[in-house]
Amino acid sequence: MKKKLKLGLFGFGCVGQGLYHVLEETSGIKAEIKKICVKHPDKVRPIPADRFTYRKEDLLLDEQIDVIVELIDDADAAFTILKEALQHGKHVVTANKKMLAEHLEEIYHLQQRYNRSVLYEGAVCGSIPIIRNLEEYYDNDLISGIEGIFNGSTNYILTKVFEERKGYHEALRQAQELGFAESDPSLDVKGFDPKFKLAIAITHAFGVFVKPEHILNIGIDNIDALDLKFAQDNGYAIKLVARAVKAGNEVFGLVAPQFVERQHNLYPVRNEYNAVTVVGAFAERQLFVGKGAGSYPTGSAVLSDISALTYDYRYEYKKLTQGNTHRFSNEAYLEAFIRFDQPELVRMHDFEEFHSGYAANGHHYMTGLVSLEKLRSWAASAKVGIILTPKTRIVSYIEKNREQACSAA
Ligand code: HSE
Repeated sequence: MKKKLKLGLFGFGCVGQGLYHVLEETSGIKAEIKKICVKHPDKVRPIPADRFTYRKEDLLLDEQIDVIVELIDDADAAFTILKEALQHGKHVVTANKKMLAEHLEEIYHLQQRYNRSVLYEGAVCGSIPIIRNLEEYYDNDLISGIEGIFNGSTNYILTKVFEERKGYHEALRQAQELGFAESDPSLDVKGFDPKFKLAIAITHAFGVFVKPEHILNIGIDNIDALDLKFAQDNGYAIKLVARAVKAGNEVFGLVAPQFVERQHNLYPVRNEYNAVTVVGAFAERQLFVGKGAGSYPTGSAVLSDISALTYDYRYEYKKLTQGNTHRFSNEAYLEAFIRFDQPELVRMHDFEEFHSGYAANGHHYMTGLVSLEKLRSWAASAKVGIILTPKTRIVSYIEKNREQACSAA
């Protein structure tokens, strides 16, 4: 690739400005922004107006621009920009997790077709270099699971609520002010944002494409004061945990709040920090921790992708090409703590294994092993609270049947 990359930047919001400053501060990088395309001409911006354009063609048709850096909010518009950029022979760097999760398989094929690279480290867990690690470091390791905190805003909110006794709405407002939350914060608090990131990570960890709608996401917006009290009385934190495991040729995954014990490696991960544990056959458990949201941490991940393009880096999607036949499945159980007010909403026989139950202060609580399908139906109701238990793990139907057959023998 030529000496100095010319970049066309779409978007000058939180991450766009972060990248701009990070680039200015990084003297060694062989890249410079040629033009920035933004939507609103009337907005006051902190750099000279002649740096901007309002026409996407000024970037996409500029033959001097080598790389389109896409940092806008709108996933559909971002996908259109990505496709046009590749068609015009440009590489793409993006942090748009929704767009990537929804179209990853097509984006994979587009890269082959146009022989151009799409890099997106900034889309998954901010500053943690997880995608490139899954691609390169764990190239030949047999990864059996990934698990962690994939959303900075919700971790920030939960930290403030637990440690500073802040109200949920005040903590959310702070997360928005600090630029951590999505412009539609329900994507954060309802667990969609970490689900998009999990879908992308699943492809790089296990070589499987999964549409985000197939992954169950339960957010933190339905956690109530009694759940918090239960956690505090038992010395637990609550974390929004994204996890995926491989069992046989099936891959399972979900995002859900979980009670986390003090000795758990996610317990000390606070505020907007994210963390990812990768479980590999040979490397065993490894924990990556870093800022998962914010202008500079995400900007630095985007910068790292730009830097990688200066030496022609591209994802090889190694697990996809290793001849595996894995498929994503929801045929599994987890142990969960279920809270509800109306007795008819949840029954003992809804559980594959019922573990305990009690009623207090007009609320009912049950714990037990429950199918992902059942959790999905309860999660659709605001009247049922779902938090995974501290020692929960994904148990496939196949594993459960095998256990039952063994105990019957
Ligand atoms: N809203 C996201 C988060 C931003 O809070 O993690 C970073 O992807």
